[in-house]
Amino acid sequence: MSNDGVNAGRRRFLVAATSVVGAAGAVGAAVPFVGSWFPSAKAKAAGAPVRVNIGKIQPGQQLVAEWRGQPVFIVRRTDEILGGLEKVEAEVADPQSEESVQPEYVDPKTRSIKPELLVLVGLCTHLGCSPSFRPEVAPADLGANWQGGYFCPCHGSKYDMAGRVYKSQPAPLNLPVPPHSYETDDVLIIGVDQENA
Ligand code: FES
Repeated sequence: MSNDGVNAGRRRFLVAATSVVGAAGAVGAAVPFVGSWFPSAKAKAAGAPVRVNIGKIQPGQQLVAEWRGQPVFIVRRTDEILGGLEKVEAEVADPQSEESVQPEYVDPKTRSIKPELLVLVGLCTHLGCSPSFRPEVAPADLGANWQGGYFCPCHGSKYDMAGRVYKSQPAPLNLPVPPHSYETDDVLIIGVDQENA
């Protein structure tokens, strides 16, 4: 009698499990078909512009946002930081970003719409690691001429505080500047070009 009970329970389980598999199979078959007509909400979100409140970023600090699955570095630069860009001008490989990725409306030298706000895709142009933010001036490990910038931990590429790569690094190009615009002084939109671009 107890065996019957076990078997009955087992049968119920198998039937239930089969139904679930059947249902999953049906859903699995339907989704690609529907998906070819309408992008999923997740797919839309993955490519959608991102609004970021930048009002609380203190001078000299960085906020990391996410856009299209990539880190985006947002830094509020001080006058000292901007002055540091001049000091390394001769040491960076593409000072005017002629070879590097950035929208036309971005100043080629500060690589920004507003000099005080830097917006970069945070992926090394060598093999895609995420560089570390190293804003300090002349730290022991980066040398007396270091004016702040980014250091890639994977193979040692160095970038300045405009994301411009130093000469003779594994990385060939400056960090990309993504399309972006300002809705207000405190709201940055990543993924939407500035008007009248
Ligand atoms: S991935 Fe950055 S130096 Fe290689």
